[in-house]
Amino acid sequence: MTTISFINMKGGVGKTTSVVEIAALLVKEHRKKVLVIDLDPQTNATLSFITLDQWEKIKDTATIADVLGMNRGSSSREEDFDINDAIISNAGGIKNLDLIPSHLELTFLDLDLGPVPARESVLKNQLDKANLQYDFILIDCPPNLTLAPQNALIISDYIIVPVVPEIFPAIGLPLLVNRVRKWKKSFRDCNVEFLGIIFTKVDRRYTIHAEQMDALRRKKIIHCFSTVIPQNTQVSKAVAQSKPATIVFPHCSGVESYRNLVKEIIRKIEE
Ligand SMILES: Nc1ncnc2c1ncn2[C@@H]1O[C@H](COP(=O)(O)OP(=O)(O)OP(=O)(O)O)[C@@H](O)[C@H]1O
Ligand SMILES: [Mg+2]
Repeated sequence: MTTISFINMKGGVGKTTSVVEIAALLVKEHRKKVLVIDLDPQTNATLSFITLDQWEKIKDTATIADVLGMNRGSSSREEDFDINDAIISNAGGIKNLDLIPSHLELTFLDLDLGPVPARESVLKNQLDKANLQYDFILIDCPPNLTLAPQNALIISDYIIVPVVPEIFPAIGLPLLVNRVRKWKKSFRDCNVEFLGIIFTKVDRRYTIHAEQMDALRRKKIIHCFSTVIPQNTQVSKAVAQSKPATIVFPHCSGVESYRNLVKEIIRKIEE
């Protein structure tokens, strides 16, 4: 089982889109069994697989907030909750793609888990109890490094960093690398490594994009995947149908690129 967290402190860089499309492609074109965990209170990954109506039905009883034992007025803590109860099998009708949906309450995770010992390991403990069988677990994280991403990092083999190649990522990346390095020192059983940067929303007409990609490739702070994801409106339109673009627009340029990227990711993991 390979677990990958999608992390960047910067918002709107394609973390969620990458999780959703890569998950769909691993399942549809590589016959993998994949679990997507939505750890972002914005619930964007969740709503890329299920409709708002479907989410409304389970939001109070079976989301990541329950898995993490958030104090939401109910008496149960996470020890009493079975993670299997939060897993939506074949999410969006996609066979072998399962989802643990998110909840807006996750915004208050740091407050709620403040006094809990080993609060970075709550998700790990839940997964250890359940012994789930997947080829991949992909985790969508919010744009920060607070408790939710920390719970993701501790169980992850790899971090993938989606980056829009503008000026600011170049500043944020060393910060991210240093933070993760420091953080790993305090959690000895965490072996997470950076797998690579995905350049997203790339517009070939902008010289700044080409320049920034070049600069980041040369700096070698983190490996950069050679496949680049172009700016492509169809990728962002699929969510209106609560489905990955891989299902709705399988031949749009964004999906074609994610298709190549997935092959590259698999190769890199097998290296
Ligand atoms: N390749 C692309 N081409 C065009 N639009 C894109 C592309 N990738 C993502 N988008 C759009 O850009 C917006 C931000 O993308 P996304 O939600 O994946 O980023 P994010 O990093 O998860 O953001 P946040 O930090 O807020 O969670 C969304 O509206 C999404 O549909
Ligand atoms: Mg997101």
